[in-house]
Amino acid sequence: MHKRKKITVVGAGFVGSTCAHWAASKELGDVFLVDINEGTAKGKALDLFEASPVEGFDTRVVGTSNYEDAKDSDVVIITAGIPRKPGMSRDDLLATNAKIMKSVCEEIKRTSPQSVVIVVSNPLDAMAYVAYETLGFPRERVLGMAGILDSARFRSFVAEELNVSVKDIQAFVLGGHGDTMVPMPRHCSIGGVPMMEMMDKETIERLVERTRKGGAEIVGHLKTGSAYYAPSASAIEMTEAILKDQNRILPCAALLQGEYGVDGLFVGVLCHLGGKGLHKVVELKLNDEEKAGFEKTKEHVQVLVEKVKTLGL
Ligand code: LAC
Repeated sequence: MHKRKKITVVGAGFVGSTCAHWAASKELGDVFLVDINEGTAKGKALDLFEASPVEGFDTRVVGTSNYEDAKDSDVVIITAGIPRKPGMSRDDLLATNAKIMKSVCEEIKRTSPQSVVIVVSNPLDAMAYVAYETLGFPRERVLGMAGILDSARFRSFVAEELNVSVKDIQAFVLGGHGDTMVPMPRHCSIGGVPMMEMMDKETIERLVERTRKGGAEIVGHLKTGSAYYAPSASAIEMTEAILKDQNRILPCAALLQGEYGVDGLFVGVLCHLGGKGLHKVVELKLNDEEKAGFEKTKEHVQVLVEKVKTLGL
């Protein structure tokens, strides 16, 4: 008999609770919403569970501040941490969120030692590194969510520009989750047709630039926090790929071990995702411009990781 899958979502803020919402409504498994603020976790989880008879999904939704309640989860999504405010970069969150990430991962290591962990907190690539170091899991089971989000933004903008369905836009973004991300217009296609044949250079450049600043655009509107629908949908796409062993090819932050000439850093790359988590990093041949972009992004992530090391966590 099959047991139901277990999904832990750490952090009951907007991103965490929206992850819980999508995980439950897609019936990916039982959902445990964990937050140090027990009332928020319990309240949102109960509210979501009470939506299930109306929406017709069969999942348990549990809110708790105790990781033991969520023990032996298959997938853990970590959203805990503070979001940025207008004028802040993701990097400004480093010291605060690194401490939170470390303490969360100590609990996960103890209570869900076989899980695949998906880091969502910012600054993403550095937080994934802190998680990896704290968890001591193999790289297959520690991933960061950013590439799907950045790619989804790019795809949305392309779809809007051409007035075509988002379903027909294929695109991905590599690199770190920040201003140095590396959108890959050469590999963007619209109904299978290369983007370069459908759009002029200026338009592509404008959409690339909007993608790079996509997170800040939302922060600028919201003022009190950052995006959550698209980040959550992206984390759930990874969760589903893992829980259903889908063998997807998706852009995620993974620990590189020699790929693209990088060793020991989390950077956004195309990943083969399935039941074991990361099955393989798909290494592409980059042209000179993309190589330069990747180099810049790598240096940026390296600087953040060096800063993390000086925090002496
Ligand atoms: C964003 C934040 C969540 O890109 O990193 O919206």
